[in-house]
Amino acid sequence: MHTNVVIIGAGPAGLMLSHLLSQNGIDSIILEKRSRKEIEETVRAGVLEQGTVDLLKETGVGTRIEHEGFEHEGIYLQFGQKRERIDFPSLTGGKKVVVYPQHEVLKDLLKARIEDGAAIHFEVNEVKTHAIHSNKPYVTYTPVKGASEETITCDYIAGCDGFHGPCRETVTESDCSEYEKLYDYGWLGVLAETEVASDELVYANHENGFALLSTRTPTLQRFYLQVDRKDDINLWSDDRIWTELKKRSDIGDGKELKDGPIVSKNIVSMRSYVCETMRKGNLFLAGDAAHIVPPTGAKGLNLAISDIQILAEGLKERYHNGSENLLDRYEEIALQRIWKAQRFSSFMTTLLHTDVKKTKFERKIQESEFHYLVSSEAAKRSLAENYTGLPIEWGRALAPQYS
Ligand code: APR
Ligand code: PHB
Repeated sequence: MHTNVVIIGAGPAGLMLSHLLSQNGIDSIILEKRSRKEIEETVRAGVLEQGTVDLLKETGVGTRIEHEGFEHEGIYLQFGQKRERIDFPSLTGGKKVVVYPQHEVLKDLLKARIEDGAAIHFEVNEVKTHAIHSNKPYVTYTPVKGASEETITCDYIAGCDGFHGPCRETVTESDCSEYEKLYDYGWLGVLAETEVASDELVYANHENGFALLSTRTPTLQRFYLQVDRKDDINLWSDDRIWTELKKRSDIGDGKELKDGPIVSKNIVSMRSYVCETMRKGNLFLAGDAAHIVPPTGAKGLNLAISDIQILAEGLKERYHNGSENLLDRYEEIALQRIWKAQRFSSFMTTLLHTDVKKTKFERKIQESEFHYLVSSEAAKRSLAENYTGLPIEWGRALAPQYS
């Protein structure tokens, strides 16, 4: 078997790459270790930047987002009982975000790709990359455990297999540059059957820790609580979760968060990570395979999509004009945006979480940061600009046109 690009992983990065390549007449094959059902049902974050929404719509996979996504024109930031709104359109010249769960984006992309006859192999095992430094790289895998190995030869391999996939390992096992920060805290995420808690997302700092009020549907809500990164989910009864959510989001107006059955709960640890080596020979890393952000800035999915936009444009130039100039600049262009998203995610995380290791002085600075932010037009504009999404800096390259 031969194809232009073997894509490893059918998350947002892999599926979007396959989608953009096919729109430009470039063949690809996706190898994915999970089943389609699992991909479509795994709960992840759900805030799409304006640029992500525009790209999905411009490339024909935005119909459901248009009808079912919730357009949000701002967020609330809360410190103690003081809650302030940041208005995006007035601060950014009209930008908004859309709350639409990641697995729904994946359903839309999978549907489009499968209707288009895409080659997506689910539930594959032992995916390995080979000869990445040659111009004849290839990938081997077994379709089912114990079956004989299959080989796909290609021109390029796209490592879209997330943080724990084999591609990042291949890149980092020899010379590469990595940056990492681990946090002492994690997020306990719940899905609860109750009414919408707020018309827009609430990011709240409380002395007990951070809380986030988000939404999924009018009757299903997504809430998060800062917990210790090693916390045991079994110690978090539904009652304890509701007590903390209510306490941390209280603004003293006598209105209490409405509780209801909790249908899922889990704890995820938080990390900031960048592998600056995003290309090794003809293997490219994109999305979570190359970087992880803490979820506070809602950047994970959006960053995966912007990596792919750059990579797809590079591949387009290579297949249409025979030039690798843009592919050679993939890492440089992508890292500009990645580091800015890292900066913003780190800023939001530090601003909003309660760190018991902070001195009294540092806690005062944190509080003052919040007061400055909500009282300064310039600071609010900066937050709104980053939250709704920074542009890709193409530099000397031309910005792509999707029609
Ligand atoms: N072989 C094949 N597929 C693999 C392998 C493997 N050995 N290892 C991982 N995968 C698949 C995973 O099953 C997953 O479907 O790669 C995919 C990677 O998807 P994501 O982890 O979602 O990463 P990415 O596409 O870069 O999207 C990043 O998704 O998880 C969120 O928070 C993350 O929002 C961010 C976004
Ligand atoms: C979510 O809805 O899951 C969500 C929203 C905003 C974030 C993170 C997660 O910053």
